[in-house]
Amino acid sequence: MTGIYFSGTGNTKHCITKFIESLSCFATKSAPQAVQIISIEESDLAAGALKNEQNLVVLAYPIYYSNLPKIMRDFIVEHKDLWKGQNVYIICTMGLFSGDGTGVSARLLKQYGANIVGGTHVIMPDCISDVKLLKYSPEKNKEIVLKADQKLEAAAHKLANYKPSREGLNFLSHLTGLFGQRLWFSHKTKHYSDKLKIHTESCIKCGKCTSVCPMHNLTLSDASIITAGKCTMCYRCINQCPQKAITLIGKRR
Ligand SMILES: Cc1cc2nc3c(=O)[nH]c(=O)nc-3n(C[C@H](O)[C@H](O)[C@H](O)COP(=O)(O)O)c2cc1C
Ligand code: SF4
Ligand code: SF4
Repeated sequence: MTGIYFSGTGNTKHCITKFIESLSCFATKSAPQAVQIISIEESDLAAGALKNEQNLVVLAYPIYYSNLPKIMRDFIVEHKDLWKGQNVYIICTMGLFSGDGTGVSARLLKQYGANIVGGTHVIMPDCISDVKLLKYSPEKNKEIVLKADQKLEAAAHKLANYKPSREGLNFLSHLTGLFGQRLWFSHKTKHYSDKLKIHTESCIKCGKCTSVCPMHNLTLSDASIITAGKCTMCYRCINQCPQKAITLIGKRR
């Protein structure tokens, strides 16, 4: 079994790990399996694992505007030859709603010959830290993660019993994802973003953002941080900046 994921701020990494640990636990009772979990940031490693996988691929990503993060879409498309005949279970994480979060990659993967085994949507704390409306207290976030863990364990149990969830994969979900968000916001995920803002007055040029960015979008110059306009909107640098000096959708972190 191979887990392949993208996670900007850790939610999706947490969820795929929890799911695969639970699944391995149920599966070892019948037949033990070799397991690996790889981020698409290690692109060659992930592609190599896909090439050799013959049992199950668990694919996981966060939802952006009811759509795939551009970095994940690019990974799937760049390795289109590797999906043929793969059994794929899809997990997607979100703050509130996606409609067909699993469906957006399922339709693409089916085009490349994959067999979609099932899918699960998981509500996690919202990673958008520069919009006040989306922020919850630490207690509320803990509650959300606990519920997510329970849902993932139940989903793993169902899959181990050959009755996988198929959340987000039917036609009605497709319509809710499309009309709920994608129709109005699809332009936001079509290209990499050039909207990231560095607030130079508070930046101390520590370089943290340059080292964590999965897109290598940021560089440190003498005067400030320079962005290359290829941001996948993952919010990692925004959440990790010690000075709260970076924003994307909102104005203040
Ligand atoms: C640009 C952007 C758009 C998002 N759009 C949605 C959305 O449409 N629906 C939703 O429920 N959550 C949305 N979210 C929240 C994330 O999907 C959610 O917090 C996710 O669990 C983050 O996962 P990560 O920590 O693995 O990056 C969005 C987040 C970002 C950064
Ligand atoms: S992490 Fe923040 S403070 Fe550090 S260089 Fe980047 S923007 Fe500046
Ligand atoms: S610039 Fe920041 S938000 Fe954009 S991809 Fe890099 S780490 Fe993610």
